Amino acid sequence: MTHFGYILSICLILTTVVHCQDRQPKVKPSKRPKPPKPPKPPKPPKLPKLPKTPKPGKAIAIEPTEPFHATTLPPPLPPGPVSVFPDCPRECNCPPDYPNALYCDSRNLRIVPIIPPRIHYLYLQNNFIDALPERAFRNATELKWINLDNNRISNQKLDKQVFNILNKLLFLYMDRNKLNGVPPNLPSSLEQLRLSRNQISKIPPGTFSKLENLTLLDLHHNKLSDGVFNKNTFKGLKSLMQLNLAHNSLKKMPPTLPQDIFQLFLDKNQIKEIPDNYFKNLHHLAFLRLNFNQLTDQGIPNGLFNLSTLLDLHLSNNNLNSIPTFSTRLEHLHLSHNHIDKINGTEICPCPIDNIALHAHDLEMIPRLRYLRLDGNALAPPIPVEIRMCFRLLQAIVV
Ligand SMILES: *[C@@H]1O[C@H](CO)[C@@H](O)[C@H](O)[C@H]1NC(C)=O
Ligand SMILES: *[C@@H]1O[C@H](CO)[C@@H](O)[C@H](O)[C@H]1NC(C)=O
Ligand SMILES: *[C@@H]1O[C@H](CO)[C@@H](O)[C@H](O)[C@H]1NC(C)=O
Ligand SMILES: *[C@@H]1O[C@H](CO)[C@@H](O)[C@H](O)[C@H]1NC(C)=O
Repeated sequence: MTHFGYILSICLILTTVVHCQDRQPKVKPSKRPKPPKPPKPPKPPKLPKLPKTPKPGKAIAIEPTEPFHATTLPPPLPPGPVSVFPDCPRECNCPPDYPNALYCDSRNLRIVPIIPPRIHYLYLQNNFIDALPERAFRNATELKWINLDNNRISNQKLDKQVFNILNKLLFLYMDRNKLNGVPPNLPSSLEQLRLSRNQISKIPPGTFSKLENLTLLDLHHNKLSDGVFNKNTFKGLKSLMQLNLAHNSLKKMPPTLPQDIFQLFLDKNQIKEIPDNYFKNLHHLAFLRLNFNQLTDQGIPNGLFNLSTLLDLHLSNNNLNSIPTFSTRLEHLHLSHNHIDKINGTEICPCPIDNIALHAHDLEMIPRLRYLRLDGNALAPPIPVEIRMCFRLLQAIVV
């Protein structure tokens, strides 16, 4: 049998439920909880159509400043039409009806143009920019949003003070660059910092200490190892809700986490064990992902995931032999591709099954689990009847 054996549908489960109690729980089956989406920066209206791009050969002809030693990089696009804004860099586009936005993305740029002071939203993604000189940003102190995704920026060519002066900056996106450390002197106004898919192996002390409004920190797909983190690494991140450290080289959990964390992603590391009571002081943790690690039963202390705030727990592709205990509030549990070979419904039920039958009308008493994935284990149907008696809201169980 393949990984996706079969899905036992809700109808089947609920039929059983109706038989063994006189009242069905008054819960509307709702959709899977989703991690909150970060707010999007305001989208400027659609851009006017750009003039047709001439062939590369022609571009070189009208772009004599292209360095002679030009590598294999495609040449920058030719300048667009003259803008209504005299300060608009010729290599960018300044939409007349959106004076706060500057579009310089996907232009094969090597160099950041001088950013005019009126700009709030700066689009520089998908270029070949390798340096961030302070001079280019010196007058752009109104900037709220910078997208530098998919460039070639390294720490060596990033002026140490470049972000310091941008004291209104809210979002900084630098995914897919060549950073080997988190940039220094980030402005304390920052709310979102995205640095995924770099080669970050360093977080200098105090890097985050002033970022009291940061809600999202994305460091997934970097080269972070255990030694990078100490007790103070995340100190000062008073507002942090979403932390993504997936796809790094962690063998242990970070020593401490920001207290208000709501969503924690640690997939694709090499974590073998989690200390006792590790999550105990995280009073808002709702989404926890630890897929593709090396967790074993021995590495998971009793009651570790028995947290009343937790809604969504991912432990797929680990080395677990049994189902860890969890609270009545958990709604989704992912345990596919482990080594689980038996389920005891009585044991995994977060409260005594007899109680559930007695208090079937009381929502607080009914385990909330709605979705359970167990495919890729050594389990075979049928599902124990205790599972259906315990998890009355279960909509799908994948074996
Ligand atoms: C910044 O603004 C000042 C004053 O308007 C001006 O003199 C200077 O040339 C500007 N700097 C850059 C790099 O454009
Ligand atoms: C953080 O956000 C609050 C509320 O928006 C604001 O008053 C405060 O100035 C911000 N802090 C910093 C350091 O920008
Ligand atoms: C989970 O926690 C609750 C409340 O904190 C407690 O009553 C319950 O016994 C715990 N369950 C397990 C299996 O440890
Ligand atoms: C399940 O666990 C309970 C309590 O530990 C035990 O009494 C029962 O015999 C087990 N059921 C099966 C089918 O192993």
